[in-house]
Amino acid sequence: MTLQSLTIRRPDDWHVHLRDGDMLRAVAPYTARQFARAIVMPNLSPPVTSVAAASAYRTRIAAAAGRNSETRFTPLMTCYLTDAADPDELARGHAEGVWVAAKLYPANATTNSAHGVTDLAAIRPTLERMQAIGMPLLIHGEVTDPDIDIFDREAVFIDRILGGLVRDFPALKIVLEHITTKEAAEFVTDAPATVAATITPQHLHLNRNALFAGGLRPHAYCLPVVKREAHRLAVRAAAVSGSPKFFLGTDSAPHAVDAKESACGCAGIFNAPHALESYATVFEAEGALDKFEGFASEHGPRFYGLPLNDGTVTLQRAETTVADRVAGLVPFHAGESLGWRFME
Ligand code: NCD
Ligand code: ZN
Repeated sequence: MTLQSLTIRRPDDWHVHLRDGDMLRAVAPYTARQFARAIVMPNLSPPVTSVAAASAYRTRIAAAAGRNSETRFTPLMTCYLTDAADPDELARGHAEGVWVAAKLYPANATTNSAHGVTDLAAIRPTLERMQAIGMPLLIHGEVTDPDIDIFDREAVFIDRILGGLVRDFPALKIVLEHITTKEAAEFVTDAPATVAATITPQHLHLNRNALFAGGLRPHAYCLPVVKREAHRLAVRAAAVSGSPKFFLGTDSAPHAVDAKESACGCAGIFNAPHALESYATVFEAEGALDKFEGFASEHGPRFYGLPLNDGTVTLQRAETTVADRVAGLVPFHAGESLGWRFME
Protein backbone atom coordinates (compact mmCIF):
# COMPACT_ATOMS: atom_id res chain seq x y z
CA MET A 1 0.00 0.00 0.00
CA THR A 2 1.35 3.42 -0.83
CA LEU A 3 1.91 5.79 1.99
CA GLN A 4 -0.78 8.49 2.07
CA SER A 5 0.90 10.85 4.46
CA LEU A 6 4.30 11.42 5.90
CA THR A 7 4.78 12.95 9.34
CA ILE A 8 8.27 13.88 10.46
CA ARG A 9 9.83 15.79 13.31
CA ARG A 10 9.79 19.51 12.47
CA PRO A 11 12.73 20.11 10.10
CA ASP A 12 15.35 22.85 9.73
CA ASP A 13 16.94 24.51 6.72
CA TRP A 14 20.72 24.55 7.19
CA HIS A 15 21.41 27.07 4.38
CA VAL A 16 19.12 29.86 3.22
CA HIS A 17 19.34 33.40 1.82
CA LEU A 18 16.63 35.60 3.30
CA ARG A 19 17.94 38.96 1.98
CA ASP A 20 16.75 42.20 3.60
CA GLY A 21 14.08 44.89 3.32
CA ASP A 22 11.10 44.20 1.03
CA MET A 23 12.62 40.98 -0.27
CA LEU A 24 13.11 39.68 3.28
CA ARG A 25 9.49 40.46 4.12
CA ALA A 26 8.36 38.71 0.92
CA VAL A 27 10.35 35.49 1.31
CA ALA A 28 10.87 34.86 5.05
CA PRO A 29 7.32 33.57 5.69
CA TYR A 30 7.87 30.70 3.23
CA THR A 31 10.92 29.45 5.09
CA ALA A 32 9.26 30.01 8.49
CA ARG A 33 6.21 28.02 7.35
CA GLN A 34 8.14 24.82 6.66
CA PHE A 35 11.15 25.03 8.96
CA ALA A 36 11.66 25.58 12.69
CA ARG A 37 15.14 27.05 12.27
CA ALA A 38 17.33 28.15 9.42
CA ILE A 39 20.99 28.95 9.02
CA VAL A 40 20.84 32.40 7.45
CA MET A 41 23.56 33.33 5.00
CA PRO A 42 25.36 36.63 5.66
CA ASN A 43 25.94 37.75 2.06
CA LEU A 44 23.99 40.98 2.33
CA SER A 45 25.37 44.16 0.86
CA PRO A 46 27.35 45.13 2.93
CA PRO A 47 28.03 41.66 4.35
CA VAL A 48 27.21 40.73 7.94
CA THR A 49 30.63 40.90 9.62
CA SER A 50 29.89 42.39 13.06
CA VAL A 51 27.96 41.03 16.02
CA ALA A 52 25.83 44.19 16.06
CA ALA A 53 24.87 43.81 12.39
CA ALA A 54 24.03 40.11 12.85
CA SER A 55 21.93 40.81 15.91
CA ALA A 56 19.98 43.60 14.18
CA TYR A 57 19.47 41.40 11.10
CA ARG A 58 18.15 38.60 13.30
CA THR A 59 15.56 40.99 14.74
CA ARG A 60 14.47 42.05 11.24
CA ILE A 61 14.14 38.42 10.20
CA ALA A 62 12.03 37.50 13.21
CA ALA A 63 9.71 40.42 12.43
CA ALA A 64 9.47 39.44 8.76
CA ALA A 65 8.86 35.77 9.47
CA GLY A 66 5.31 36.56 10.50
CA ARG A 67 2.89 36.09 13.35
CA ASN A 68 4.25 34.28 16.39
CA SER A 69 7.55 34.03 14.62
CA GLU A 70 9.53 34.35 17.83
CA THR A 71 8.20 31.05 19.06
CA ARG A 72 7.79 29.28 15.73
CA PHE A 73 10.85 30.23 13.72
CA THR A 74 14.40 30.77 14.90
CA PRO A 75 16.94 32.36 12.56
CA LEU A 76 20.45 31.04 13.21
CA MET A 77 22.93 33.70 12.23
CA THR A 78 26.29 33.37 10.50
CA CYS A 79 29.34 35.60 10.26
CA TYR A 80 30.71 36.50 6.84
CA LEU A 81 34.46 35.88 6.91
CA THR A 82 36.77 38.38 5.27
CA ASP A 83 40.56 38.66 5.19
CA ALA A 84 40.12 41.10 8.09
CA ALA A 85 38.09 38.68 10.24
CA ASP A 86 38.71 39.30 13.94
CA PRO A 87 38.89 36.11 16.06
CA ASP A 88 37.82 38.05 19.17
CA GLU A 89 34.71 39.53 17.54
CA LEU A 90 33.81 36.10 16.18
CA ALA A 91 34.24 34.39 19.54
CA ARG A 92 32.27 37.12 21.29
CA GLY A 93 29.34 36.76 18.86
CA HIS A 94 29.41 33.00 19.34
CA ALA A 95 29.56 33.28 23.13
CA GLU A 96 26.64 35.73 23.11
CA GLY A 97 24.55 33.28 21.10
CA VAL A 98 24.32 35.55 18.05
CA TRP A 99 26.53 33.61 15.66
CA VAL A 100 26.03 29.91 15.27
CA ALA A 101 28.62 29.49 12.50
CA ALA A 102 30.84 31.42 10.09
CA LYS A 103 30.72 31.36 6.31
CA LEU A 104 33.73 31.20 4.06
CA TYR A 105 33.17 32.60 0.57
CA PRO A 106 36.25 32.55 -1.61
CA ALA A 107 36.34 36.16 -2.91
CA ASN A 108 34.06 36.57 -5.93
CA ALA A 109 32.83 32.97 -5.97
CA THR A 110 29.17 34.00 -6.01
CA THR A 111 26.50 36.68 -5.30
CA ASN A 112 27.81 39.41 -2.92
CA SER A 113 31.10 37.65 -2.26
CA ALA A 114 33.41 40.46 -3.36
CA HIS A 115 34.47 40.87 0.27
CA GLY A 116 35.18 37.16 0.65
CA VAL A 117 38.47 35.60 1.63
CA THR A 118 41.32 36.06 -0.86
CA ASP A 119 43.92 34.14 1.11
CA LEU A 120 43.19 31.37 3.61
CA ALA A 121 46.43 32.20 5.42
CA ALA A 122 44.83 35.50 6.49
CA ILE A 123 42.08 33.74 8.45
CA ARG A 124 44.11 30.97 10.07
CA PRO A 125 43.95 32.60 13.53
CA THR A 126 40.17 32.82 13.11
CA LEU A 127 39.92 29.16 12.12
CA GLU A 128 42.09 28.19 15.11
CA ARG A 129 39.68 30.03 17.38
CA MET A 130 36.61 28.48 15.77
CA GLN A 131 38.15 25.05 16.22
CA ALA A 132 38.84 25.81 19.88
CA ILE A 133 35.30 27.03 20.63
CA GLY A 134 33.49 24.44 18.51
CA MET A 135 32.02 26.92 16.00
CA PRO A 136 31.30 25.35 12.60
CA LEU A 137 32.88 26.66 9.40
CA LEU A 138 30.49 26.70 6.43
CA ILE A 139 32.21 26.67 3.06
CA HIS A 140 31.21 27.75 -0.41
CA GLY A 141 33.51 25.18 -1.98
CA GLU A 142 34.49 26.56 -5.37
CA VAL A 143 37.78 27.95 -6.60
CA THR A 144 37.43 31.28 -8.38
CA ASP A 145 40.34 30.95 -10.79
CA PRO A 146 38.85 32.00 -14.15
CA ASP A 147 41.12 29.47 -15.87
CA ILE A 148 39.26 26.63 -14.20
CA ASP A 149 36.19 25.41 -16.04
CA ILE A 150 33.12 26.44 -14.06
CA PHE A 151 31.88 22.84 -13.94
CA ASP A 152 35.16 21.77 -12.30
CA ARG A 153 35.42 24.49 -9.65
CA GLU A 154 34.02 22.42 -6.80
CA ALA A 155 36.19 19.37 -7.49
CA VAL A 156 39.29 21.57 -7.81
CA PHE A 157 38.44 23.31 -4.53
CA ILE A 158 38.25 19.96 -2.77
CA ASP A 159 41.55 18.90 -4.26
CA ARG A 160 43.48 22.15 -3.73
CA ILE A 161 41.98 23.57 -0.55
CA LEU A 162 39.57 21.41 1.39
CA GLY A 163 41.74 18.35 1.88
CA GLY A 164 44.48 20.48 3.46
CA LEU A 165 42.01 22.40 5.62
CA VAL A 166 40.55 19.20 7.07
CA ARG A 167 44.06 17.92 7.78
CA ASP A 168 45.26 21.19 9.35
CA PHE A 169 42.17 21.65 11.52
CA PRO A 170 41.25 18.13 12.60
CA ALA A 171 38.76 19.26 15.26
CA LEU A 172 37.11 22.05 13.24
CA LYS A 173 33.51 21.28 12.25
CA ILE A 174 33.24 21.92 8.52
CA VAL A 175 30.10 21.95 6.36
CA LEU A 176 30.69 21.83 2.63
CA GLU A 177 27.64 23.73 1.48
CA HIS A 178 25.33 22.82 -1.42
CA ILE A 179 27.39 19.95 -2.82
CA THR A 180 26.98 19.24 -6.51
CA THR A 181 29.50 16.59 -7.52
CA LYS A 182 30.48 12.96 -7.11
CA GLU A 183 33.85 14.23 -5.84
CA ALA A 184 32.15 16.18 -3.06
CA ALA A 185 29.86 13.31 -2.06
CA GLU A 186 32.86 10.96 -1.92
CA PHE A 187 35.09 13.41 -0.09
CA VAL A 188 32.52 14.03 2.64
CA THR A 189 31.65 10.35 2.96
CA ASP A 190 35.32 9.42 3.42
CA ALA A 191 36.24 12.39 5.63
CA PRO A 192 36.32 12.31 9.44
CA ALA A 193 33.08 12.87 11.36
CA THR A 194 33.93 16.59 11.65
CA VAL A 195 32.99 17.06 7.97
CA ALA A 196 29.41 17.23 6.68
CA ALA A 197 27.52 18.65 3.70
CA THR A 198 24.22 20.30 2.84
CA ILE A 199 22.25 19.34 -0.25
CA THR A 200 19.74 21.52 -2.14
CA PRO A 201 16.59 20.34 -3.90
CA GLN A 202 17.76 21.66 -7.25
CA HIS A 203 20.95 19.61 -7.21
CA LEU A 204 18.81 16.53 -6.59
CA HIS A 205 16.39 17.30 -9.43
CA LEU A 206 18.42 18.98 -12.17
CA ASN A 207 21.42 18.21 -14.26
CA ARG A 208 23.10 20.73 -16.52
CA ASN A 209 20.80 20.00 -19.43
CA ALA A 210 18.18 21.95 -17.48
CA LEU A 211 20.14 25.13 -18.17
CA PHE A 212 19.65 24.74 -21.91
CA ALA A 213 16.34 22.86 -22.28
CA GLY A 214 14.89 24.35 -25.48
CA GLY A 215 16.71 27.63 -24.83
CA LEU A 216 18.57 29.44 -22.08
CA ARG A 217 16.90 28.85 -18.69
CA PRO A 218 17.91 31.50 -16.16
CA HIS A 219 15.69 30.05 -13.44
CA ALA A 220 17.77 26.86 -13.40
CA TYR A 221 20.95 28.87 -12.85
CA CYS A 222 22.48 28.81 -9.40
CA LEU A 223 25.95 28.47 -7.93
CA PRO A 224 27.53 26.05 -7.75
CA VAL A 225 26.07 25.44 -11.19
CA VAL A 226 24.18 22.17 -11.73
CA LYS A 227 26.41 19.43 -13.11
CA ARG A 228 26.28 16.32 -15.33
CA GLU A 229 23.78 13.54 -14.65
CA ALA A 230 26.41 11.27 -13.05
CA HIS A 231 27.01 13.95 -10.43
CA ARG A 232 23.32 14.46 -9.76
CA LEU A 233 22.96 10.72 -9.18
CA ALA A 234 25.91 10.68 -6.77
CA VAL A 235 24.48 13.60 -4.80
CA ARG A 236 21.06 11.90 -4.70
CA ALA A 237 22.64 8.70 -3.42
CA ALA A 238 24.39 10.65 -0.67
CA ALA A 239 21.18 12.44 0.36
CA VAL A 240 19.13 9.26 0.69
CA SER A 241 21.98 7.16 2.13
CA GLY A 242 21.00 7.74 5.74
CA SER A 243 24.52 8.96 6.50
CA PRO A 244 24.47 11.57 9.29
CA LYS A 245 26.94 13.65 7.26
CA PHE A 246 24.33 14.80 4.77
CA PHE A 247 21.48 17.13 5.61
CA LEU A 248 18.95 19.55 4.21
CA GLY A 249 20.05 23.01 3.12
CA THR A 250 17.84 24.58 0.48
CA ASP A 251 20.15 27.41 -0.60
CA SER A 252 16.91 29.19 -1.47
CA ALA A 253 18.33 32.34 -3.09
CA PRO A 254 15.65 34.70 -4.39
CA HIS A 255 16.35 37.34 -7.01
CA ALA A 256 13.86 39.67 -8.70
CA VAL A 257 12.56 38.29 -11.99
CA ASP A 258 14.26 41.00 -14.04
CA ALA A 259 17.58 40.26 -12.34
CA LYS A 260 17.24 36.60 -13.35
CA GLU A 261 15.89 37.21 -16.86
CA SER A 262 18.72 39.43 -17.97
CA ALA A 263 21.72 39.52 -20.30
CA CYS A 264 23.77 38.75 -17.20
CA GLY A 265 21.36 36.92 -14.93
CA CYS A 266 21.91 36.44 -11.19
CA ALA A 267 22.66 33.01 -9.73
CA GLY A 268 20.12 31.62 -7.32
CA ILE A 269 16.95 29.53 -7.19
CA PHE A 270 14.00 30.50 -4.98
CA ASN A 271 12.90 27.10 -3.68
CA ALA A 272 11.52 28.02 -0.24
CA PRO A 273 7.79 27.82 -1.07
CA HIS A 274 7.77 24.05 -1.73
CA ALA A 275 11.12 22.88 -0.43
CA LEU A 276 9.85 19.91 1.58
CA GLU A 277 7.55 18.70 -1.20
CA SER A 278 10.49 18.92 -3.60
CA TYR A 279 12.81 16.88 -1.38
CA ALA A 280 10.07 14.35 -0.59
CA THR A 281 9.56 13.52 -4.27
CA VAL A 282 13.26 12.66 -4.49
CA PHE A 283 13.26 10.44 -1.40
CA GLU A 284 10.17 8.68 -2.65
CA ALA A 285 11.59 8.12 -6.14
CA GLU A 286 14.67 6.61 -4.51
CA GLY A 287 12.53 4.34 -2.30
CA ALA A 288 13.99 6.06 0.73
CA LEU A 289 11.11 7.86 2.46
CA ASP A 290 12.28 6.17 5.67
CA LYS A 291 15.49 8.21 5.42
CA PHE A 292 13.75 11.56 4.93
CA GLU A 293 13.34 12.48 8.59
CA GLY A 294 17.01 11.93 9.34
CA PHE A 295 18.04 14.14 6.42
CA ALA A 296 15.50 16.89 7.13
CA SER A 297 15.27 16.94 10.92
CA GLU A 298 18.02 15.00 12.71
CA HIS A 299 21.41 15.01 11.00
CA GLY A 300 21.74 18.81 10.94
CA PRO A 301 21.06 19.52 14.62
CA ARG A 302 23.23 16.60 15.68
CA PHE A 303 26.14 17.88 13.64
CA TYR A 304 25.72 21.43 14.96
CA GLY A 305 25.25 20.16 18.52
CA LEU A 306 21.77 21.70 18.81
CA PRO A 307 18.63 20.07 20.20
CA LEU A 308 16.21 18.33 17.85
CA ASN A 309 12.96 20.26 17.35
CA ASP A 310 9.76 19.39 19.12
CA GLY A 311 6.60 18.91 17.11
CA THR A 312 6.01 17.51 13.66
CA VAL A 313 5.05 18.50 10.13
CA THR A 314 2.97 16.45 7.74
CA LEU A 315 3.12 16.02 4.00
CA GLN A 316 0.11 14.49 2.30
CA ARG A 317 0.02 12.60 -0.92
CA ALA A 318 -1.81 15.16 -3.01
CA GLU A 319 -1.03 17.10 -6.10
CA THR A 320 0.65 20.47 -5.48
CA THR A 321 0.66 22.70 -8.52
CA VAL A 322 3.48 25.18 -8.20
CA ALA A 323 2.42 28.68 -9.25
CA ASP A 324 4.27 30.56 -11.99
CA ARG A 325 4.90 33.35 -9.52
CA VAL A 326 5.14 33.31 -5.73
CA ALA A 327 5.57 36.65 -3.99
CA GLY A 328 6.29 38.12 -7.43
CA LEU A 329 9.25 35.75 -7.93
CA VAL A 330 9.68 32.65 -10.07
CA PRO A 331 9.84 29.68 -7.68
CA PHE A 332 11.65 26.39 -8.27
CA HIS A 333 9.32 23.94 -10.11
CA ALA A 334 7.20 26.86 -11.43
CA GLY A 335 4.27 25.45 -13.41
CA GLU A 336 5.10 21.87 -12.42
CA SER A 337 3.17 19.54 -10.23
CA LEU A 338 4.60 17.80 -7.16
CA GLY A 339 3.10 14.66 -5.65
CA TRP A 340 3.17 15.82 -2.02
CA ARG A 341 1.50 18.68 -0.22
CA PHE A 342 2.75 20.41 2.91
CA MET A 343 -0.07 20.69 5.48
CA GLU A 344 -0.37 23.80 7.64
C1 NCD B 1 23.39 32.68 -3.75
C2 NCD B 1 22.83 34.08 -3.67
O1 NCD B 1 22.13 34.51 -4.61
O2 NCD B 1 23.05 34.74 -2.65
N1 NCD B 1 23.22 32.20 -5.09
C3 NCD B 1 23.22 30.90 -5.48
O3 NCD B 1 23.17 30.65 -6.68
N2 NCD B 1 23.25 29.92 -4.62
C4 NCD B 1 24.81 32.69 -3.32
C5 NCD B 1 25.37 31.31 -3.07
O4 NCD B 1 24.94 30.61 -2.17
O5 NCD B 1 26.29 30.94 -3.79
ZN1 ZN C 1 23.89 29.92 -0.67
